[in-house]
Amino acid sequence: MILVTGGAGFIGSEVVRQLVSAGRRVVVVDNLTYAGSLDNLANVAGRDNFAFEREDIRDGDAMRRVFADHGVQQVIHLAAESHVDRSIDNGMPFIQTNVIGTANLLEAARDAWSGSTLSNHRFTHVSTDEVYGDLTEDEPGFTEQSPYKPSSPYSASKAASDHLVTAWGRTHQLPYVTTNCSNNYGPYQFPEKLIPLTISRCLRGQSIPVYGNGRQIRDWIHVTDHARGVIMAHDKGRNGESYLLGSRNEQRNLDLVHRICDEMNLMLGRNDLHELITFVQDRKGHDLRYAINPAKAESELGWSAGIGFETGLRSTIKWYVDRYNEGTS
Ligand SMILES: NC(=O)c1ccc[n+]([C@@H]2O[C@H](COP(=O)([O-])OP(=O)(O)OC[C@H]3O[C@@H](n4cnc5c(N)ncnc54)[C@H](O)[C@@H]3O)[C@@H](O)[C@H]2O)c1
Repeated sequence: MILVTGGAGFIGSEVVRQLVSAGRRVVVVDNLTYAGSLDNLANVAGRDNFAFEREDIRDGDAMRRVFADHGVQQVIHLAAESHVDRSIDNGMPFIQTNVIGTANLLEAARDAWSGSTLSNHRFTHVSTDEVYGDLTEDEPGFTEQSPYKPSSPYSASKAASDHLVTAWGRTHQLPYVTTNCSNNYGPYQFPEKLIPLTISRCLRGQSIPVYGNGRQIRDWIHVTDHARGVIMAHDKGRNGESYLLGSRNEQRNLDLVHRICDEMNLMLGRNDLHELITFVQDRKGHDLRYAINPAKAESELGWSAGIGFETGLRSTIKWYVDRYNEGTS
């Protein structure tokens, strides 16, 4: 049985869809914060190999119960507070969920798996490239050797959780891998993040906020590719290793927003959506550029991102437009 934490969220639900459709047994733990929804799991609900537990990873006793009740042998850990802006407003929920919650899961795994053959077990920790801080425009992309240098309360809490996993692995021989991925896009993302926010504002004719001068660079990967990479790292990654997942697709924020406006002008038969772009005060401590060198995952896991940005972005926009037209978003 694989425990997937945060399985009702954006990336977690894609991991669950892929695992369940491959016939693997999955239990999801998610406490359904504003970012999680059972709607994201509608197409696996009711399947024999799927179970759901509405529990909070901050509750260590609840995590122990889930491990015992479901005979959890493996974990893919995604539950987190994930939005940088919210962490700037108040960092404490990020410490509680991302740091304490991860420690609770590590302890529950250690208790449940002690005395059994460790090769049957694995704890896969899903993290972000933001733990490495930011890059200048001409530096090479992050690798697994890049030093940790987080900038925001969010990335610092994720960095702390990465270190906890490494420490439990070394100290308690807990079998683990860590994945660090760049910015994800795709269906089911909560509309506070840049791509669904821009689409939603275009649909509603509302202003599209762009931080600062919009020159920040992000490296975008489709969520389907990321989830496939996480599962491959979980199944095939070497114990104690980390794998950076990315699709070599760097885009400036402002260029990306213009591109979405272009696509949506075409899709909606309009020509004025660019006029909604509004520059707003820059985010505090805003990272300039993220970029990933995924060579290790490509050579060791045989994984590579397969969805081109043009195709992926167009199908993502269409997904949100369809949901809007159906009245479900
Ligand atoms: N979104 C990205 O671009 C990106 C990139 C790299 C890594 N990641 C990492 O991937 C993971 C998933 O990200 P996402 O974008 O899907 O996030 P998300 O915010 O969409 O989903 C997070 C999920 O975790 C659940 N959750 C939050 N706190 C919880 C708690 N205390 N107990 C139980 N469940 C809780 C939420 O209900 C939600 O379903 C996170 O760990 C994030 O750091 C995200």
